Amino acid sequence: MRKIIVTGGFGFLGSHLIELLLAERDNHVHVIDNLSTSPLPLEDLLHEFDDPDRLTYSVADVAAFCQSWDGERCDEIYHLASVVGPAGVLPHAGRIAASIVNDTMAVANLALRYRAKLVDVSTSEVYGGGQDGFCSETMSKIVPPKSSARLEYALGKLAGETALLNLCETQGLEARIVRPFNVTGPRQSGRGGFVLPRFIGQALAGVDITVFGDGRQVRAFTHVKDMVAGIVCAMRNGRKGEVYNLGNPANRCAILELAEEVKRLSGTASRIVFVDPQTIYGPLYEEANNKFPDASKALAELDWEPRYGRQKAIEDTLLYMKGLPEQLLLRLRGF
Ligand SMILES: NC(=O)c1ccc[n+]([C@@H]2O[C@H](COP(=O)([O-])OP(=O)(O)OC[C@H]3O[C@@H](n4cnc5c(N)ncnc54)[C@H](O)[C@@H]3O)[C@@H](O)[C@H]2O)c1
Repeated sequence: MRKIIVTGGFGFLGSHLIELLLAERDNHVHVIDNLSTSPLPLEDLLHEFDDPDRLTYSVADVAAFCQSWDGERCDEIYHLASVVGPAGVLPHAGRIAASIVNDTMAVANLALRYRAKLVDVSTSEVYGGGQDGFCSETMSKIVPPKSSARLEYALGKLAGETALLNLCETQGLEARIVRPFNVTGPRQSGRGGFVLPRFIGQALAGVDITVFGDGRQVRAFTHVKDMVAGIVCAMRNGRKGEVYNLGNPANRCAILELAEEVKRLSGTASRIVFVDPQTIYGPLYEEANNKFPDASKALAELDWEPRYGRQKAIEDTLLYMKGLPEQLLLRLRGF
């Protein structure tokens, strides 16, 4: 039986990752999650998993868990726990980078102690927009002159990545880094500022669909099922000490197009309106630059290929949110 630890396993990506890992019959998964931003209440989430026998969990902070854990064995660690989201990071400004680095180092020490393989789930935010939105692992990162909560998040992730890569060289740590681009799908919460569940929630409520700025920001949305498949492929097929962009460049679109697609697919009478996000989230809020991935390295090395188009991601999320009881829908839609 393969023993796997997933930090942040009750989050949006983590919950899909667990489903994928439990689908392999010889995996035992232990989740560490403090439930701080889990999209669903734990009992509702556990209800959606198939085989709870091979799933155990600790409701705990990552750093505290890693220091005290004395399990007999651990083969793989997926590190996903983090503050996240353009709005989700705001209340933590000033402590974002420290918490990301602290947790990443605790996980690295656990991996070293157990000689476990580690995948660190970083972010495409480290590129700061790349070259006109195009982001490749071979590019320099861009640090803008203005500080922001978003920048602190990106730099915390980058510092964590850099430390892990150095530990691969100096201590033989078996780590790989993945940098997801925008992910979306069922169970994503609009509360952290994520756009698709907010648009769908607005469409279902029949209220205005609020596009931030002029809506021309470019993103490439990847279906969460493709993303977690890529994360597992990075663990199994990725090379130690390497960084992989994960995202579906074919799903590139402007945010206004996404709003129009949600309107069309949901059949809502909602209007699309343009708003300044700082009027909602305050002056610390900052939109990301255009960004979309060069995923050629992951495609060539990981035996991974994204399968789902943007429309499928919207349809699956729409269907999921439509089927939620009112109370959970209100929780997920984020407004
Ligand atoms: N969602 C995206 O589009 C996206 C894009 C790029 C990178 N990522 C990265 O993917 C990872 C997962 O993101 P997500 O969208 O699933 O977020 P999420 O908020 O849904 O999940 C994060 C989970 O981690 C838990 N958590 C947070 N801090 C913790 C701590 N210190 N100790 C224990 N548990 C903690 C939360 O309760 C939550 O369940 C994050 O590392 C994020 O930076 C996400």
